Amino acid sequence: MTIHVRAASAALLLGVSGTALLAQVTPPTTPPTAPEFSAQGEPVFAGLDEILGYRALDGYSQAPWLDAFVESGQLPPVEERLPAEPMVYEVSNMPDGAGVYGGTLRHVIGGRPEGWNYWGGQSQGWGGIDIGLYECLTRTGPLFQVAAEDLQPMPNLARSWEWSEDGMMLTVHLIEGAKWSDGDPFDTEDIDFYWNDIVQNPEVTPLNGATPATYANATLEIVDDYTFTMSFESAFPESVLYAMAYGNFCPGPSHVLKPQHPAYSDNTMEQFINAFPPEMMGFPVMGAWSPVEYRAEDIIVMRRNPYYWKVDSDGNQLPYLDELHYRLSTWADRDVQAVAGTGDFSNLEQPENFVESLRRAAEDDAPARLAFGPRTIGYTLFPNLSGNGWGEPDDRAQAVRELNRDPEFRMGLTQAMDRVRLGESLVKGPFTVQYPGGLYEGTSYYDAESTVFYPYDVTSARAHFEAAGLADTDGDGFYNWPEGSPAGQGNVLLTILANADYQTERNLAEGVVAMLEEAGVQSTLQILTGNDRDAAADSGRFDLMLVRNASELITVVQNTQQLAPTGPQNSNNHRANPDGELDLLPFEEEMVEIINTFIGSRDAEERTELMKRYQQLYTENLYGIGLTAYPGALIINKRFANIPPGAPIFQFNWAEDNIIRERVYVPQEAQMDLQLHPETIPGPDGPVTAG
Ligand code: GLA
Ligand code: CA
Repeated sequence: MTIHVRAASAALLLGVSGTALLAQVTPPTTPPTAPEFSAQGEPVFAGLDEILGYRALDGYSQAPWLDAFVESGQLPPVEERLPAEPMVYEVSNMPDGAGVYGGTLRHVIGGRPEGWNYWGGQSQGWGGIDIGLYECLTRTGPLFQVAAEDLQPMPNLARSWEWSEDGMMLTVHLIEGAKWSDGDPFDTEDIDFYWNDIVQNPEVTPLNGATPATYANATLEIVDDYTFTMSFESAFPESVLYAMAYGNFCPGPSHVLKPQHPAYSDNTMEQFINAFPPEMMGFPVMGAWSPVEYRAEDIIVMRRNPYYWKVDSDGNQLPYLDELHYRLSTWADRDVQAVAGTGDFSNLEQPENFVESLRRAAEDDAPARLAFGPRTIGYTLFPNLSGNGWGEPDDRAQAVRELNRDPEFRMGLTQAMDRVRLGESLVKGPFTVQYPGGLYEGTSYYDAESTVFYPYDVTSARAHFEAAGLADTDGDGFYNWPEGSPAGQGNVLLTILANADYQTERNLAEGVVAMLEEAGVQSTLQILTGNDRDAAADSGRFDLMLVRNASELITVVQNTQQLAPTGPQNSNNHRANPDGELDLLPFEEEMVEIINTFIGSRDAEERTELMKRYQQLYTENLYGIGLTAYPGALIINKRFANIPPGAPIFQFNWAEDNIIRERVYVPQEAQMDLQLHPETIPGPDGPVTAG
């Protein structure tokens, strides 16, 4: 095995006996078997056309209090606000059938809004805000209930698409006659702006990181108001259809964005990015609710979008719910409030809260339902693999990059991790499992035989660190920089970037620091709150960073190009330097090749084999160092109807997308008096009343 050869030759170079060093290295194995943990609640599988379609219905109705806005002339009648053929959710597929209007969904979040400019890279505070505001060409969250053999992205703003015979061109048909929440038409002007002024402009990157590589470097051409084509360099890059879902092809209102963009104004890019602060109300959206109130450190309130372009098959315009709240608090408080019934929804994802939440949810008078899903929440420690200047490292950071690029060093890091202890520090019981990194166990492309697991062994970790050229030259118990290092003569010091907003992440980060110390490597935490942490991660200003789960490691078919550094900005831990150059390691080159072949392949068997090889390359070479994986639970107040059974908190997307909020309702008898701005619609100065 390569690892023996490496260790042995390093030992020879150091002039010590090869066998002595060999004996200290514990070789990798396949991963240990995880204890059973069965998900609670099975999805009811359906074909896409059983869930939704696009067609004209005989008549439409709206939330009754909107009648007054039509009478006063503030709104056109509902049939004029809707497209000729709206998106129709089949009532027959709804878990509890057609809903009733009214009701409020109270979210609690730990993030904070920077502004509404998602396309300028601003965060709205996460927790489902951006997912709800900005609709995308296709949709994937609800696919957890679509059987594997029928799997393809759901249509959304794109109602249909077709490939040319040779697979080199995709024609996309948008929904016709849909309108932004301020009544402006949605059409290819919005596509044109998103494509040419955002995606193709290297000076700006949307929040979730879409770049030309996300779309296989396609050439996009507008055909007419509702049609465009994308041409590719290779045949049938079907992953592009997944790349049109949440996170990427979610166009913004060009009629509002364009006048502020540097290409059409005197603004700098910075001014464009900041032109839509959270205080701005009624920001035009294609989503079901738009902001009407923002109070810093307190709340964001959203009201129904009267132009929403989806209906149920009885003709009721969606959404059913009038109002959405996002309390600006902490992620842990989201769990506490959902369990207590003062909030309505939580992705229970911090294991520290599992035991107490389970206890309360089991009581007869518990206000909320709680259901665990599969183990798809996981943490990875990513070494920054750029050796040529991403993040503009100083001498110390550059020396760390060079260590990170040495497989011996990464083997040292991984064998220093006691994953059992890390998991148990979060929660005791059958929840957490040791996570080798890469594809998650239990997901469709995972293969245990192709997964390389380096067991915890401090002695072995030290042998690897020494093979990477480290020695404790001053005898204080910690490895020093090698002789002549530009980083100086002192101890090696690593920084670990982590998100302060999650107790779980802090606990894991502290555990990692302690375990590295036991293996002779000093590190310190670079703990930043969400938005600052994201900025540091995106700009490459980190040595090592903790990263929570990614959907591509679960579904593979979504965000496929992010599985490897397939483009200058695609990877978490290896992006291009300011000159746009990537210095990929040989195993990374191979990973990129595999991913590109996978994207271009329609052969199921070939795809399975490719993913086996990918998993092996990833885990053997420690592209990322997996730590722990565990299940999450969806907590939803019992008064809500139409929550699909078996909705995972995270798979293709987060549960805020998966449960299809525009179909969720509160039965009449369960409605509570929670609306802060009843009978109002969004406007530029906040909530607007009729008359
Ligand atoms: C945050 C939360 C997740 C989920 C997402 C949605 O990351 O931690 O549970 O709500 O936001 O974007
Ligand atoms: Ca030392």
